Amino acid sequence: MKSKEIRESFLEYFKEHNHSIVPSSSLIPEDPTLLLTAAGMVQFKPIFLGKIKPDFTRAASCQKCVRTTDIEKVGLTARHLTFFEMLGNFSFGDYYKKEAISWAWEFLTEKMGLEKEKLWVTIFREDEEAYQIWRDLIKIPDKKIVRMGEEDNFWAAGSTGPCGPCSELIYDLGEERSCRKPDCGIGCDCDRFLEVWNLVFMEFERGEDGELNPLPQKNIDTGMGLERIALIKQNVTSTFETDLMKPIVEEILSLTKEEKGAISTKIIADHVRAITFLVNDGVIPSNEGRGYILRRLLRRAVRHGRLLGIEKIFLPHLVDKVIKVMVETYSDLKTNAQFIKKIVQKEEERFSHTLKQGLNMLSEIIKKAHSQKLSTVPANFAFVLYDTYGFPFELTREILAESSLSVSEEDYQKLMEEQREKSRQSFEGKTFTFSKDVYRLVTEKFGPTEFVGYAELETTSNVKAIIKGENMILKAKEGEEVEIILDKTPFYAEMGGQVGDKGQIITDTGIMEIYDTTSPFPSLYTHKGKVVSGYIEVETSAKGKVNQKRRQSISSNHTATHLLHWALRIVLGEHVKQSGSLVDDKKLRFDFTHFEALTPEQIIKVEKLVNSKIFENHPVRAYITSMEFAKEIGVIALFGEKYGDFVRVVEVGNFSKELCGGTHVTRSSDIGLFKIVSEGSIGANLRRIEALTLYEALNFVYKEEELYRQISRTLKAPFSEVPAKVDFLITSLKEKDRELERLKKVYFAEKVERFLKEAVEVNETKVVVEKLEVEEAQDLKILADALRSRVEKGIFLFGASIKGKAILLSAATPSIVLKGFHAGELVENISGLVRGGGGGKADLAEAGGKSPEKIDEALKVGKEKIINILRKIKS
Ligand code: SER
Repeated sequence: MKSKEIRESFLEYFKEHNHSIVPSSSLIPEDPTLLLTAAGMVQFKPIFLGKIKPDFTRAASCQKCVRTTDIEKVGLTARHLTFFEMLGNFSFGDYYKKEAISWAWEFLTEKMGLEKEKLWVTIFREDEEAYQIWRDLIKIPDKKIVRMGEEDNFWAAGSTGPCGPCSELIYDLGEERSCRKPDCGIGCDCDRFLEVWNLVFMEFERGEDGELNPLPQKNIDTGMGLERIALIKQNVTSTFETDLMKPIVEEILSLTKEEKGAISTKIIADHVRAITFLVNDGVIPSNEGRGYILRRLLRRAVRHGRLLGIEKIFLPHLVDKVIKVMVETYSDLKTNAQFIKKIVQKEEERFSHTLKQGLNMLSEIIKKAHSQKLSTVPANFAFVLYDTYGFPFELTREILAESSLSVSEEDYQKLMEEQREKSRQSFEGKTFTFSKDVYRLVTEKFGPTEFVGYAELETTSNVKAIIKGENMILKAKEGEEVEIILDKTPFYAEMGGQVGDKGQIITDTGIMEIYDTTSPFPSLYTHKGKVVSGYIEVETSAKGKVNQKRRQSISSNHTATHLLHWALRIVLGEHVKQSGSLVDDKKLRFDFTHFEALTPEQIIKVEKLVNSKIFENHPVRAYITSMEFAKEIGVIALFGEKYGDFVRVVEVGNFSKELCGGTHVTRSSDIGLFKIVSEGSIGANLRRIEALTLYEALNFVYKEEELYRQISRTLKAPFSEVPAKVDFLITSLKEKDRELERLKKVYFAEKVERFLKEAVEVNETKVVVEKLEVEEAQDLKILADALRSRVEKGIFLFGASIKGKAILLSAATPSIVLKGFHAGELVENISGLVRGGGGGKADLAEAGGKSPEKIDEALKVGKEKIINILRKIKS
């Protein structure tokens, strides 16, 4: 029986028992407390907790899941996987134990035809009800009902949340699969007794304090691993041989000549499935959260690929295979195929680059630890491997474990925290806003602010409160800076990437210039500004006047942002997702997911598409509707929105539809002109586009034109001949550069030889400390690299005066770094002498300073330090 038939037969069976068939949810759960979807019940969690009432009380699904708790067992057993599909049936206060048990039994024995004699069951120790159902109704012999403790038969989705006792169906794969230990039986870790189906009787919620509280209703949550039931039905010995995984395993085998790579092959086959599905659902490799899990799986797979002797980039090819096997069931894999492959390729390339060096370093560490008969390795090695070579900690730990070495995770985390602290400190200029109590008070006292600014830019209202610092005051005099709360306002408060409005608030007694509007507390708008004439008092009538021209520019930029989003999805693909935006009166900024820089052709295409939509003069409409309707008409869905909520939809023509609370122009032609001014990376697979509209766009075009004129004047060439002239100049410059390079090489080679001859040697290590005359800091690095490749153990320190500044550079060979030498610390230590600062990695670091005349002194001190360090290092 094919897996596809098992899936279908399962869903069909429960459909016949009046279950609604619910599609698999994303691997990114809506529940913010969970990192990944690890069970079928995850999408139903709010229903179990009684927070949402669904239209149905019975459901069944086939859910894609990723669980990494058993990652270290993958490949070693027949059954452990990180990615799997879970077949499940659920009852929300409807049926309970009797039906859940009977149906599970009937499905396995009758629909799947499993031999009754081979099935065992476990129950929770105290669960008499389940015991009786199994014994009296199903007629399972007493000796095949095994009672287990909380650890095995009490299931919970996390440390808090819904949970309950469970009962498992276990299939005996036969004595020949036993580990043959005397106590081998149900619950043994070997491959004989296979847990097939877990029936959870979900009746409790565990609170923060660990207490079990009864849920409002009793529920059923069951889960059966598709790969496991396929293993049984297809009569194979492991999940890796089922039709779900065998084609992938075979593809890996075709890439390797390694005979002994069974475990690595399985690990790759499992991981590449998880990787494919994670990226498909929008997870991008990163150093945090679910992105880190993906990165870890991917890097682990790459390393096992290298163990199999696969030297080229191979994962994208396997992704293709996974897609081929799974696409019939998960059709979105096809839409996203190119995107998934790109992301995987980039990450594999990124890691391959440093993998070899990192592995070399690790093998040196292992050799050293063994020769010194150590059983643990200091955590700073793991840290350097992460920081310099991108080795996830877990990978280092695993590789060390293969050589019976351990490393302390606690110490490693401490080092990570220190580094985070350092980067926090160096990140300056960030301001923090916080909600002051006064805003809560004002809201409680005067109620929410009514926002009328979608339709009006001038509104008469009342001054309800004046806030100065943390306090409410009754009157603000000329010159005072305060915040004003109105009962009704046309001012848009900063939200959803759109800046707050500016303008004036005018009363009979005074005028206040408003320079920002924000919403520091839900539905409260506050206008910040300065009284520029007279005074303002509470409980008086006031006219709020938004700076119209500025608002017009902001709205124009905001509508253009929607058009840009739409155009990007057309030109680059549906995977483009907004990850942030900023809209003000000068420009718009749009951040989105994409895996590589846009080509100039793509940028022009996007720009042209947007402009054509502007010139076509489409109407822009905004309306409030239900989330259900918005989804139906294909509004770009935002993560986290719940069914039942009301949302505002902004439509341009009939092609762009987004959920948005911002202000917009009324017709697309109001945007005037759209011009992209920059495109760049802001992180792994995240891009940023900045663009202009209206006057700003036009001014930009004028400025560019002026620039062209200048270039043409400077080059003394008519504009049409500028490219040829520039080409000519570049070619001749390149020739000169090549000549210079050649001369430099000769010059440097002589120097390296001389340095080595004159080097001091301490503790078998060559120490070269020199002041040099070079043109650029890069030359110091070239020299250091040349030296590094010539000696096995060496520390080098150079100083140079370049363009009036002091530059210090230190480098060391890996063998010395392994012994604890840190070039970054050395240059940091001595950079004070040249009135500067800097640092870097353990093997290469650079500092700059304001006092080139002090270089000699810094080098002298540096040399002493190096010698001291070397004397202390034991070889
Ligand atoms: N939630 C339970 C499990 O994951 C049953 O589906 O095992």
